[in-house]
Amino acid sequence: MIGCGYLGAVHAASMAQLGHEVVGVDVDEPKIAMLAAGRTPFFEPGFEELLAESLASGRLRFTTDFGDAAGARVHFVCVGTPQKRGEYAADLRYVESAVESLIGVLAAGELVVGKSTVPVGTAARLAELVGDKVPGAMLAWNPEFLREGFAVQDTVHPDRLVYGLPDENADTAHALLDEVYATIVAAETPKVVTDYATAEMVKTAANSFLATKISFINAMAELCEATGADVKQLADAIGHDDRIGRKFLNAGLGFGGGCLPKDIRAFMARAGELGADQALTFLREVDNINMRRRIRMVELAREVLDGSLLGKRVAVLGAAFKPESDDIRDSPALNVAAQLQLQGATVVLTDPAAIENCRKHWPQIDYADTAEEAARGADAVLLLTEWRQFRELDPVAFGKIVRQKRVLDGRNALDRDVWEAAGWSYRALGRRHAS
Ligand code: UDX
Repeated sequence: MIGCGYLGAVHAASMAQLGHEVVGVDVDEPKIAMLAAGRTPFFEPGFEELLAESLASGRLRFTTDFGDAAGARVHFVCVGTPQKRGEYAADLRYVESAVESLIGVLAAGELVVGKSTVPVGTAARLAELVGDKVPGAMLAWNPEFLREGFAVQDTVHPDRLVYGLPDENADTAHALLDEVYATIVAAETPKVVTDYATAEMVKTAANSFLATKISFINAMAELCEATGADVKQLADAIGHDDRIGRKFLNAGLGFGGGCLPKDIRAFMARAGELGADQALTFLREVDNINMRRRIRMVELAREVLDGSLLGKRVAVLGAAFKPESDDIRDSPALNVAAQLQLQGATVVLTDPAAIENCRKHWPQIDYADTAEEAARGADAVLLLTEWRQFRELDPVAFGKIVRQKRVLDGRNALDRDVWEAAGWSYRALGRRHAS
């Protein structure tokens, strides 16, 4: 497994669990030392147990020595493809350097399997490079669809397998992948066997669709705000239609994280390079709608705080880009918290998992260990990441801690009636409010 970040580490431990001999390789020494000692560099439910079991089985080890990848029949490339600084395009330097390093240890008959999310066309280019340098070695593209918070489950029980295979030796590559995923294949998991370009596009198309679904309902939220309609009921009602479905129709602060935002931007950039930019101009609007939600949340806070943020004490519940994660990459919650702080509010932020990560980036914000501590003396409480412990807060007891019983539900996750019955003024994006 080349690259032991989120994807690679979970994939490595999962493959060991499925019975394979796995070696995880990464250039990041502290990360490798942590993983080798059974400690997880990131928060992911179930991963620590899986890592411990896989290490104890003797089938999993971690190293910084690329030479240890020699002799493997299958080499997975799991490195990151972040957004380039100042551009929409994906930065492929880690993928390229992983493949170049692999070429040094690769032998004929071995299979390189790309899992990283890459711009369409990358696999064909890498396959040519691999084929030139190591005749008889093969390359396949096998995108992953793991969600943070469900990474282990999504790896061991994926909802589909996608194999992008070479024109030559397709059967050999196919058989090797089936051998790797034997238990998953035996469970009759749907499998799509295709070419490189389609396999690469499956991932970006899926993430673009999800982002579009979220921005669609958030655009409806904007209209609901203009008309007095209720976006939550609207989502429930349209979601009853099987063709639409209720999932990913939760209006609120919108999407963030290490995948959706950068993937839709890289997709647009790639479409531009291919002369097909018109096909994806709608994604620019998807991105715009998403970013507008953050601005609207800050405006709503200002409105609720009698027109000014200056000197107001604001409790922010949640910083991670979604619950069950300590990931703050492009987190809408942290973005709003930081804007409030920069515009003069005193923000006290709490999150069950992400505080340590936040502290490094925003030392000027105050951090609290619990929601109660964060809310002490607050003029307003903002729920920005819908962790279960926040959704289950008792508004009666919580009301005794704050200075003003004003709650802004950025994720439409609280029971408005219960909070209002406890005397709170409740505001949310895309919802009617009692005035
Ligand atoms: C996503 C894809 O779901 C996954 O298949 C892919 O492999 C990687 O990218 P992830 O980034 O872990 O996974 O998060 P996801 O669960 O998709 O949520 C993304 C963002 O959308 C979060 O910020 C979440 O809060 C937001 N979201 C999700 C909404 O705002 N509304 C919804 O209805 C659903």
